Amino acid sequence: MKLLTKFNLILLVVFGTGGLIISQAIHTFLINNARREVLQEADLMMASARSMRDYTSSDLAPLLEQNPQHKQRFLAETVPDFSAVTIFNKLRQQYPDYTFREAALNPTNPEHRAADWEGDVIGYLRDHPSQKRVTGERETAMGASMYVATPIAADPPCMECHGRPAAAPPSMVAAYGSNNGFGWKPGAVVAAQIVSVPMSVPLRSAERAFHLLLAYLIATLLATVVVLDAAVYFIVIRPLKLVSDAADRISRGETNPTPLPVKGRDEIATVTTSFNRMQVSLAKAFKMLG
Ligand code: HEC
Repeated sequence: MKLLTKFNLILLVVFGTGGLIISQAIHTFLINNARREVLQEADLMMASARSMRDYTSSDLAPLLEQNPQHKQRFLAETVPDFSAVTIFNKLRQQYPDYTFREAALNPTNPEHRAADWEGDVIGYLRDHPSQKRVTGERETAMGASMYVATPIAADPPCMECHGRPAAAPPSMVAAYGSNNGFGWKPGAVVAAQIVSVPMSVPLRSAERAFHLLLAYLIATLLATVVVLDAAVYFIVIRPLKLVSDAADRISRGETNPTPLPVKGRDEIATVTTSFNRMQVSLAKAFKMLG
């Protein structure tokens, strides 16, 4: 096997394994980074939903409850859940892939009835009371999506409207009926706030960044191979070939060959010098014989 072939095989094995390990590491890093970004986005949305709820219950509701209209017709604007969902639905006009739900197993407003997967999330939060947040990924019609869910427990102040229909404001019962949204167990997790954030865009840009990096990596490795090959050829192979050609010519009987040029002081130069010296000694020996 030629020297350059051996050398290139070694490079192929070293760069191949190295490149494979590096590209795997980069891929994992980029995808995890994209996931982390999405999760941060979801957490931010969850925090803003909470502040909307808090604002409604601490600032808006007390004012609206004084409104005489509220006595005749229940103003849903007093309900923290209503404000958070309404504001998010407005946001969704610009960001349709993002959703915020206050899903309940037995909701007051049937629109908030938990879908199958949301029911599973609520069930999980109910069975694991210490867990204050669950996250997960699921496939939707719009592509992969990440959700963050936090539990909603039926605290004592909530029981006025979610306990017995008789205890609830009559205007509320008139608006929503008495069949659903009641009978929540005090202290139990009955619903969850669920934020869903699309993952397809960040995942796609992570893949694109990965392919670009891969192309740069391959180009760099190829350029390195070309430069190393050229170096081996000019530093080792060509000077060695000069020596072997000269040896061939002498063995075929050429006398008084010109000494080979010696460049630098490396091992190849040493071999060439030795060869030149051997050639001179050989010529002298032949002369003595002759
Ligand atoms: C003044 C009555 C009232 C009180 C008090 C109240 N809610 Fe509600 N709640 C409602 C109404 C009415 C709705 C439906 C609003 C709508 O149309 O979106 C609702 C909706 C909800 C929903 C969304 C699911 C569903 O049932 O439609 C959750 C979750 C919820 N409430 C939790 C709570 C919690 C937790 C508390 C206590 C911190 C609480 N509520 C206190 C009246 C009330």
